[in-house]
Amino acid sequence: MLLSLAGYAAGFAQNSPVKKTGNVKNVTIDGQQISLTTDNAWAQITVYSPDVIRIRMDKQQLTPDFSYAVIEQPQKVKASITQDASQISIVTDSLKAVIGKAPFSVTFYTPDGKVINQDETGLATSWVNESVTTYKKMQEGERFVGLGEKTGDLDRRGSGYTNWNTDSFGYSTGQDPIYSTIPFYIGIHHGLNYGIFLDNTYQSDFNFGASNNRFSSFGARGGEMNYYFIYHKHLADIITSYTALTGRMKMPPLWSLGYQQNRYSYYPETEVMRIAQTLREKQIPADGITLDIHYMDHYKVFTWDKARFPDPRKMTDKLKEMGFKITVIVDPGVKVEKGYGTYERGLAANIFAKYPDSTNYTGEVWPGWCHFPDFTNPKARAWWGTELKKYGEDGVSGIWNDMNEIATWGQKTPDNILYDYDGRQASNLQAHNVYALNMARASYEGAKEAFGKRPFVLTRAGYAGFQRYSAMWTGDNRAEDSHMLLGVRLLSSLGLSGVAFTGMDIGGFTGNGTPSLFARWVQIGAFNPYFRNHTAVNTKSAEPWSFGEEVTEISRNYVNLRYRLLPYLYSTFYEATQNGHPVVRSLAIDYTFDQNIYNTLFQNQYLFGHAFLVAPFEGGAQYGKVYFPAGKWYDLYNDEVQTGSQQKIIDVKMNKLPVYVKESSIIPMQSLIQSTAQQPTDTLTIHIYQGNANNSFTYYEDDGESYKYEQGDYYKRLISYDAAKHSITLAKPEGSLSSKFKNIKLVMHGFGGTFKMGGKALNVKDDFSSMIQPISRFDPQGSDNPVEGAKVKSAVIKNTSEQITISY
Ligand code: NOJ
Repeated sequence: MLLSLAGYAAGFAQNSPVKKTGNVKNVTIDGQQISLTTDNAWAQITVYSPDVIRIRMDKQQLTPDFSYAVIEQPQKVKASITQDASQISIVTDSLKAVIGKAPFSVTFYTPDGKVINQDETGLATSWVNESVTTYKKMQEGERFVGLGEKTGDLDRRGSGYTNWNTDSFGYSTGQDPIYSTIPFYIGIHHGLNYGIFLDNTYQSDFNFGASNNRFSSFGARGGEMNYYFIYHKHLADIITSYTALTGRMKMPPLWSLGYQQNRYSYYPETEVMRIAQTLREKQIPADGITLDIHYMDHYKVFTWDKARFPDPRKMTDKLKEMGFKITVIVDPGVKVEKGYGTYERGLAANIFAKYPDSTNYTGEVWPGWCHFPDFTNPKARAWWGTELKKYGEDGVSGIWNDMNEIATWGQKTPDNILYDYDGRQASNLQAHNVYALNMARASYEGAKEAFGKRPFVLTRAGYAGFQRYSAMWTGDNRAEDSHMLLGVRLLSSLGLSGVAFTGMDIGGFTGNGTPSLFARWVQIGAFNPYFRNHTAVNTKSAEPWSFGEEVTEISRNYVNLRYRLLPYLYSTFYEATQNGHPVVRSLAIDYTFDQNIYNTLFQNQYLFGHAFLVAPFEGGAQYGKVYFPAGKWYDLYNDEVQTGSQQKIIDVKMNKLPVYVKESSIIPMQSLIQSTAQQPTDTLTIHIYQGNANNSFTYYEDDGESYKYEQGDYYKRLISYDAAKHSITLAKPEGSLSSKFKNIKLVMHGFGGTFKMGGKALNVKDDFSSMIQPISRFDPQGSDNPVEGAKVKSAVIKNTSEQITISY
């Protein structure tokens, strides 16, 4: 008997384990929102802003809305929503969305009708049991970037990823998943780019053309299809919109941008003091020492080992006098032990995560068997804040949230652990990925209250939105070249995904690195937002002075540069608080449609802020290939100019990280200090690099430690460089604070001729500037190398609060 193909397909559809959305049946349009039903689903489409459309779908009626990630409400926008028999169309000032009715399918267009993104015909959105997936047509040449802390290449085309926060000790460079979940990516094709944020906390899966040549897809193993589609012409604006939805960081404490020294673990107190003293003696600037789990009494959170640290307050006071702040590690596991205060108080407050029979979930981690605060319960978050008070009294300044995936021995948290989920009740399947986000939130809110100053909070795991509370480091990397380079890509990808404050264990966590690896890593670390040296228990010493005299000098040299760059860096962080843009800027942000930047040869390059192009290479590399994107680039060390849109083979040395400055850059710097507790001299040096592009830089200062800036107590000044008009303008400062700099030294790179200020000749002298001098005295051929640097023009002017205009 012959079965027709159509008949076969119809039979297949009837019995199919795949449930499709089907055809649209009823449509209700209410202002900016469309509610509809289909054969098999309920859907809601909301115009969130002119650039953001939200799509919610479920195979049952939608439940009341709730998100841990999204903090923004829909804006009131001008949108026209119309329908006919075959489709519904939504038109905003920025995009057009068309919802096909038979079957339900979504297509997004630019206002002039180009397809940005569309459901794959025949697949669209469907369910397999509780899993829901949306399939998008793979566009020709489409690339994908972002998705947070994901290993692999910058361009994720051809790969698939899973989001399930996982403790990943010594992970491999292709391992997935690792610690955190940010279900947000950016698609790029035909000169267009868009973002998709799947706000679903269940295990989620993304497929960017892995094992198929038809679609990209995103989905989750439970809950709703709930995604935000974001369209802008410029990729940077997609990050702005994504972080408007999920929030941005607050100004970090200034000290947290200084160098941080750590190992697993420094103890007892005398050892901590020795490290602090050595940093000062060796003149390696530093601001922080972090204490790993051995500071605790038998790893019990919120305790001190009294034999090792008899008087924590005395120690933190002494360290503060020396210009150091202490960050302590906290793990979520609370040891089950009668008489242990935190445990007893946790029991009394009834804040631990539970099994369905109301007993507390017990899992094993450092201290032994533990209960785990249910951070999705507001009561537990408040309780955690109260516990943190003790650290405030002990003079602690930073809270390092570790093991918060949750990591337990066995790495298998049971599905049936129940969480409060802010009054909604959720199983581990739904709550696992947001455990760390809520722990970071509890730590941030608690420490803010307990410390009376901006706290520094660091987290290992997280979910979209954690950037509001915490910085992130990339966990237990290895002391290997490939990991150093992977780390750079992880930070780039986190930056593309709304996280500005990131770092990796400089030097590598597991294993013992070579001197050349360490030298390169510390150089890169100086160009990372969070700059911390860390290593595992039982590895060899890995402080900057542990690799010999040359590496000590190299480290000092780059840490010095970092400290001199703090005005630039702090202002770059200010920008992150305003628009969510990262400090480690993947080249995909500013050179999105330049195919070369995705070449795996160049994918580790990034911009540090807007000005510095960093080209990381292996520690032992002797030469390397750099890609210079469009424009003109100055060698950081000698101002040699490279023209853009070309590749170049360069010599690479251990003592010198290849770094280039983009034309027209504006880079404020200060004198060298040994910690941010010290004041620099009263001259702010502003480097300006001649170029053909206009540029501006928002210079920002505040007290570096309080929240007074939120009441206007800051000093902010727009510095503009107008290439066509041949002028540099420092606008009138804003804010109620005075600058700590009384003078400004302008250092002009690549400029010739004469200069005027306010119409009068400016006294400019020929000068020699060196942003940094690579250490050459260990270089076999280098002992008589001329000191690198550049001929520049400089002028010192008063930092008045009037507009200052320099023309040339
Ligand atoms: C795991 C963390 O990733 C690592 O940084 C830390 O040193 C150890 N836990 C010990 O606390």
